[in-house]
Amino acid sequence: MSDNPENKVPKKLFIKTFGCQMNVYDSDRMADALAPQGYEQTGIMEDADLILLNTCHIREKASEKVFSELGRMKKLRDEREHNGKTTKIGVTGCVAQAEGDEIIARAPVVDLVVGPQSYHRLPELVAKARTERVIDTEFPEEDKFEHLPGPTKKATVLRGLTSFLTVQEGCDKFCSFCVVPYTRGNEVSRPVSHIVAEAKNLAAAGVREITLLGQNVNAYHGQGADGADKGLGALLFELAKIDGLDRLRYTTSHPNDMDDELIAAHRDLDQLMPYLHLPVQSGSDRILKAMNRRHTAKSYFEVIDKIRAARPDIALSGDFIVGFPGETDADFADTMTLVKEIGYASAYSFKYSPRPGTPGALMSDQVARKVADERLQALQSQIKQGQSAFNQACAGRTMDVLVEKQGRLEGQVAGRSPYLQAVHVDGDVSLIGSIVPVKIKSIGPNSLYGELIDTSMPKTANMVENTTHATSERSA
Ligand code: 5AD
Ligand code: SF4
Repeated sequence: MSDNPENKVPKKLFIKTFGCQMNVYDSDRMADALAPQGYEQTGIMEDADLILLNTCHIREKASEKVFSELGRMKKLRDEREHNGKTTKIGVTGCVAQAEGDEIIARAPVVDLVVGPQSYHRLPELVAKARTERVIDTEFPEEDKFEHLPGPTKKATVLRGLTSFLTVQEGCDKFCSFCVVPYTRGNEVSRPVSHIVAEAKNLAAAGVREITLLGQNVNAYHGQGADGADKGLGALLFELAKIDGLDRLRYTTSHPNDMDDELIAAHRDLDQLMPYLHLPVQSGSDRILKAMNRRHTAKSYFEVIDKIRAARPDIALSGDFIVGFPGETDADFADTMTLVKEIGYASAYSFKYSPRPGTPGALMSDQVARKVADERLQALQSQIKQGQSAFNQACAGRTMDVLVEKQGRLEGQVAGRSPYLQAVHVDGDVSLIGSIVPVKIKSIGPNSLYGELIDTSMPKTANMVENTTHATSERSA
């Protein structure tokens, strides 16, 4: 890190984040890393001396956005230059990692390319970019987390009541469609003590809900106080001891890593919210094999049954890919059947996008675009139906809502249910920061509406009543 006093002059930083929650977390860490150099975050791109595009490479569409965004950047930089201001432009994230050299060659407007494993080096790389174009897409030996400064209390307070916390990064699973093992590297888990310290700081700054992040978060195996590796379940039991931290979530998981301790955490911890994102990708064993998922539809059902036995009201979410090479109508029908049988509270579905460097991209028998489009539409409508059924089943129930912000309408506040649904409630802004019991009165297309049961007694522990829901066609 350079001590040049020039570095300390206040400068504006704008970060545009694409992609997953891990990128949202990383963007905050980058802002924290650059804060000691005098960089203040701004929400106005035109004001920024340094613009970082934190990019996503998971599907082709996500990558393409970067190059179109860079076209816009060039205009903006030229306008600022006309007014005597310099602007430095950086690309970070997974496109930087996967296509760093190409970005440097194709986009002269870019001054700086930094891969996800090098964010702790940002201060020196940004300083270097003043005089030359810089690229760093190494997987360095040192642990970036231990070199990245945490946020100040002020920054955390400004970021709100909920926070992400990365506990694990990278993936060793190598699903044949996925770029993550190449862009984020091998699985690395942070030690328990470091995560607990970060969570305590967040709680001390008023954060009430933490979502633990990892590309394969339930493969977490960080070092515990006794030197032995701990799983995600053990980590959750530790985090549940922290005062003021009322809600815990985690994402994204692989079905094969739902071990007994993690399932016990769902049974035993009030703080662990009854919502689980557990991607299956396909309902066809033939396609699951081609995807190198290393599980079957049956083993996925078995895991779900175990989780439902531990936490009967759990809301399930998943990811699906349609149009994977070789997918027949019969394979797709298996996916539709699985979706109906599980009864997801929400789910994400994507058309297969061949990613350079992955085995899937080399497979013959790619599915015609029209067929994939039709399947995607059919799947999305099925998912929507399931989501609507799940929400409708909440009418009349009382559930805890963490009130996070003012609502859309005057006199309303908004927050999230334990099942991650957006809930609007009639009430005063003084409720922001409280967890309050709300009786659900009506169901909208994207959110629920409810009324406070008792405003005089904001609660700290989470309360979920009436713990069965009607959308599951399978019993636990
Ligand atoms: N094509 C389409 N969808 C993909 N995903 C990952 N890689 C691809 C790809 N090549 C989806 C998976 C994953 C989610 C984050 O993105 O469903 O779970
Ligand atoms: Fe990608 Fe998830 Fe498979 Fe890892 S487990 S390769 S992150 S889809």
